[in-house]
Amino acid sequence: MKTHKIAVISGDGIGPEVIKEGIKILKKLSPSMQSKLDFIEYDLGASQYLRTKEAMPQSVFQEVVSSDAIFLGAVGDPRVPPGILEREVLLKLRFDLDLYINLRPCILYEGVYTPIKQKTSQDISFYVVRENTESVYAGMGGFFKKGTPDEVAVQEDINTRKGVERCIRYAFDFCQKRGYKNALTLVDKANVLTYAHNLWRRAFEEVSKEYPKVKTNAMYVDAVGMDFVRRPEIFDVLVTNNIFGDILTDLGAIISGGLGFAASANINAGEQPSKYSCHALFEPVHGSAPDIAGKGLANPLAAILAGKMLLQFLGEESPAERIDHAVRKAIQSGKIFKPESSDTQISTSAIGDLVFSFL
Ligand code: NAI
Ligand code: MG
Repeated sequence: MKTHKIAVISGDGIGPEVIKEGIKILKKLSPSMQSKLDFIEYDLGASQYLRTKEAMPQSVFQEVVSSDAIFLGAVGDPRVPPGILEREVLLKLRFDLDLYINLRPCILYEGVYTPIKQKTSQDISFYVVRENTESVYAGMGGFFKKGTPDEVAVQEDINTRKGVERCIRYAFDFCQKRGYKNALTLVDKANVLTYAHNLWRRAFEEVSKEYPKVKTNAMYVDAVGMDFVRRPEIFDVLVTNNIFGDILTDLGAIISGGLGFAASANINAGEQPSKYSCHALFEPVHGSAPDIAGKGLANPLAAILAGKMLLQFLGEESPAERIDHAVRKAIQSGKIFKPESSDTQISTSAIGDLVFSFL
């Protein structure tokens, strides 16, 4: 039996609370898996940083990246200046492991509240494939005459042909495998970003020839924002750059059950393998939510569903489906959410126990 090493970074705030529930579910399923999961916990994040002024020491980084996958809660703490933990842990892993895909489902499960009137689970079921390593997040740029009245700040939007093409190819592949509407939408702003998104359009057009069964269209990002609200039912899979994907998926999360429900996968799909054995990181989309940390108020469903994505990545399709089924049953029991709301009415661990009971 193959053993998969899973590096667990629970992180800060509600991170440990939700990851605990995710692991409870994964452990329960382990007897039905074809492989064995070996969870190794790493204490990274604020407490580590406050002790040592290093969020992720190099020796720990080496261990984490020698795993088969990472399961992460969230990092971020009010005692640490903003950005340090995010940059030294999450962004470092995304960039160093070249996790160039960020896959984010926006799927409204039956019985989950959406603030969009008259839309149901039939209407909201799409995935956003976000490019995860380039765009303005590449960190290229600088200041000119900083701190003077003539100050200029430049932040470059990086779009490499290789980086764009591998992301687009993943999206086509994923769309075909999903087999839902077989429709892939390129989201861009090609009417204004006439160089960067011209490159995206040409790459999209060329890769589309490899996937004759997938229907394609291109839409401007502002129109897509509008249609997430007006007619989300037109979407199946969308592919877009880093910043548009970041912004759109918060909107996507809110229409499909809120941040407590949104899961994500960061993947190196192998087109240019990184030098490390670890090719993926799974996490809830939300952050460490210091406002509710330690109160048992966090919704662990996003972390549990990130665990489902982890199993899918490891090829454990059938236990992954069991998680999905159990989450649906737990929601339909009517015990989790307050009526007409995506706020929860039972504690973090009670939600985990409820899902557990339906496995
Ligand atoms: P956040 O996602 O932590 O919280 C936003 C709002 O949503 C808060 O009101 C929070 O209580 C609520 N919320 C979030 N997750 C929830 C859950 N599972 N159940 C119920 N309510 C939930 O975003 P915020 O407040 O902007 O950031 C807090 C910290 O987290 C910051 O340090 C930020 O940098 C960091 N962060 C880390 C991320 C990561 O590690 N992937 C992602 C986003 C933020
Ligand atoms: Mg975001």
